[in-house]
Amino acid sequence: MRDLREEIRDRIDLVDLVSQYVKLERAGKNFKGLCPFHTEKTPSFHVSPALNRFHCFGCGASGDAFGFLMQIEGLSFREAMRRLAERAGIELRADSLPQETQDERDRLRKLVYAANFFYRQCLKRTPSAQQYLAQRGLTPETIEAFELGYAPDGWDYLLKFLQKHNFNPQEAEAAGLLKAREDGSGYYDRFRNRITFPIHDAAGRVVAFGARTMGNDEPKYLNSPETPLFEKRNTLYGWHRARGEILKQRAAIIVEGYLDLIMLHQYGFTHSLATLGTAFTDDHAARLKRLAERVYLMFDSDSAGVRAALRAGEVLMQAGIPTFVVHLPAGEDPDSLLRTQGADALQRALDAATPVALFGIEQIVRELADERNPIDLEPATKSLMVERGLDWAANLSSELDRVACLERLAPLTAAYLTSPQAALQALQQELRRRLRARRRNRSAEPPAQNAPQPPDAPRLSIPKAVFQAESETLRATLHQESAAVALEHLPEIEWKIPLHAQLAERLRALPKPPCHYDPGELLHQIDEEPLKDLLTALLMQESPPMNPEWALGCIQRLKEHALRQKRLRLATEIAQQPAHEDAERQNTEKLQEYWRIRVESID
Ligand code: UTP
Ligand code: MN
Repeated sequence: MRDLREEIRDRIDLVDLVSQYVKLERAGKNFKGLCPFHTEKTPSFHVSPALNRFHCFGCGASGDAFGFLMQIEGLSFREAMRRLAERAGIELRADSLPQETQDERDRLRKLVYAANFFYRQCLKRTPSAQQYLAQRGLTPETIEAFELGYAPDGWDYLLKFLQKHNFNPQEAEAAGLLKAREDGSGYYDRFRNRITFPIHDAAGRVVAFGARTMGNDEPKYLNSPETPLFEKRNTLYGWHRARGEILKQRAAIIVEGYLDLIMLHQYGFTHSLATLGTAFTDDHAARLKRLAERVYLMFDSDSAGVRAALRAGEVLMQAGIPTFVVHLPAGEDPDSLLRTQGADALQRALDAATPVALFGIEQIVRELADERNPIDLEPATKSLMVERGLDWAANLSSELDRVACLERLAPLTAAYLTSPQAALQALQQELRRRLRARRRNRSAEPPAQNAPQPPDAPRLSIPKAVFQAESETLRATLHQESAAVALEHLPEIEWKIPLHAQLAERLRALPKPPCHYDPGELLHQIDEEPLKDLLTALLMQESPPMNPEWALGCIQRLKEHALRQKRLRLATEIAQQPAHEDAERQNTEKLQEYWRIRVESID
């Protein structure tokens, strides 16, 4: 297993692979670019051709080609392996993959693929279905690109096709393609007389279908059920086609419908995705966060659409992605707007999008105003708006968003007429009170499960200077000029960061240099991922330039810090000792030690 992984990795040019997602520029021995795993303005994402590894000095993301592909595409290890093997031109034998390979999922994928093939063939033979799509304004190129098809009007067309090709109907049921008859006498086609919209996974493989009636049948759309291949909460329709463009534009448009999405792509808005009528989830947001710095929600303008936009907006804000809501003219969806008014109209709507924070306030105002002009509102209604507006604002995580909300609410207060400034201040005070109350309530609750603390982040009590001196000392062992000095002092250092201590231990246990300055060999010797990641970061770091003087300086600082801490500890103990004879003697010893340390260390 390990050998195969290494063979594949060695044949992959990581710079080349990463360049498909991130714009890289040369920087010394490495390449750098904007990190695709967190939002940043200056590049701290580095790829080292020598190590064939990447590391982000901003968020700590680190790894090799496998890790990169798994993270950016949301793939399992096995899937990443298959993709990279293909890229490297290495043929995988079935027995060289982990056990789960010959599993159900592969067979289900083949089934869904076959069904998609079948539906596409049927479309080519069914003029009425072609006509329907033409009348909806889809070009032949779009139909081809989105692999649209037609499920024929009958109970067993797909069933027979699958049987003819030796697929197992029971598995076709598990793949969501067939349904079992209630009397147990067999199976029938799930989708009948409908246009089929294949849904792809992140790797671009068909995993499920949406299917629209061409008439007025209910429901309008039938969808595949959840299957081992298809998890709604983390699928976005169009992901594999939009991903590259989202990364390029650093923005994504989210719509609700299949046809909305397809139309947007047809009209050149190729950074669009659809949620397919399901709720927008944390998983969706996490996926987007890797690629997009801004998200535009383009939902229907009816009340269901507004509610959906607010809910999705909250999820996206929680994930820290700036989000905007696009207003569409009443009664239009993206599909109809594009078809009646063209791409320019849609672009104008995008340009006029409202930040979600303000959109929330607008909604509160609109709902309570009940179509009346704000001037006509009675004071009680206005103060209710302010109340609800403050509640909404208190939920927002960004200070800027909160202030924007208050500015919008201020004109609704009575004080505004005499002094806008005073009105704003009063609102600010009220908001602060609410935030404090919330915090009090929250601290009574158990801490959040997913607090964004990397596992080995230094605890606050460890000064940054100490953290840096430790990591510089470790880095010194990896450079020829400074290795001897650093390795000599390694055993004397009292490490404050457990991961540093672990790495120091491993470095000491290695055969004598020059093993230390052969990065490939080093990474080969160390198996644990966290240590590998740390090593990668240290190996890639190019400044400050390493030399023995710098290394000694860092070691010196660590020793001084250790002494200072010991002195503090002794001083506290002496102060706390109860006064009796034994203690007296112990104290004298402690005092002597205290002074010895005091003289040795330089403050
Ligand atoms: P809409 O009812 O807004 O339909 O549903 P639409 O997308 O505008 O479709 P057209 O233009 O009439 O063809 C929005 C999305 O909600 C899901 C589908 O994903 C649809 O695209 N939906 C809707 C269902 O899953 N089932 C339904 O019965 C209706
Ligand atoms: Mn529509």
